Amino acid sequence: MGTEPIFARRSIRKFTKQVVPIDFINEMINAARMAPSAKNRQPWRFIVFGGERKAEFENRMERGLLREKTEPILPRSHFGVPDAKNTLKIMTEAPLLIVIVNSNGKSPFVAIDCDDRITEICDSLSIGAAVQNMLLTAESLGLGTLWIANTCFAYTELTEFLKTDGQLIGAVAVGYADEAPPSRFRKSIEDLVEYRI
Ligand SMILES: Cc1cc2nc3c(=O)[nH]c(=O)nc-3n(C[C@H](O)[C@H](O)[C@H](O)COP(=O)(O)O)c2cc1C
Repeated sequence: MGTEPIFARRSIRKFTKQVVPIDFINEMINAARMAPSAKNRQPWRFIVFGGERKAEFENRMERGLLREKTEPILPRSHFGVPDAKNTLKIMTEAPLLIVIVNSNGKSPFVAIDCDDRITEICDSLSIGAAVQNMLLTAESLGLGTLWIANTCFAYTELTEFLKTDGQLIGAVAVGYADEAPPSRFRKSIEDLVEYRI
């Protein structure tokens, strides 16, 4: 794989109903597990949802978003709820969902000390690298993806449903793209880098 998938990838928010071969999902996960990770902890876990079980996951997310209106677990992020509803609609239209868990992480709703915070930052970074490997592999296989963190608003409902140890990080919706969005705005190199050489 050259650098083409890096520049060709877009977040896809419209999917066709075409079935995704499970071998392609396995290729994505195989690429994910090759990512670098802090202390080689490999803190990522993946749960692939399709069909009725995917619908149930989305149902729990819907419940969480409804509950968020009256009893917000993330009150200062409240403005993000309409966007999360939109994300949920996109999710329901994708054939598959890969839910991502930090097996080493704790609920974001419990306090942690500085050591644990550093560990969590490093594990989150490692998982980010794994997810990007998945997205780029999907791109090279002709699949479209959407990286989703809006699951956070339904954290309680979704973790209860998942019944798995660790921290829910988010999900990746996977399918064949039914849109070809243009490249989204990127900051210029000059705005990002400072050479001190
Ligand atoms: C950690 C993370 C979480 C994201 N969560 C969502 C989400 O919940 N819903 C959504 O529609 N897009 C989500 N996105 C996609 C971003 O909006 C998108 O990557 C960004 O606008 C740049 O567009 P591009 O991916 O097409 O280059 C997320 C992206 C990342 C990296």
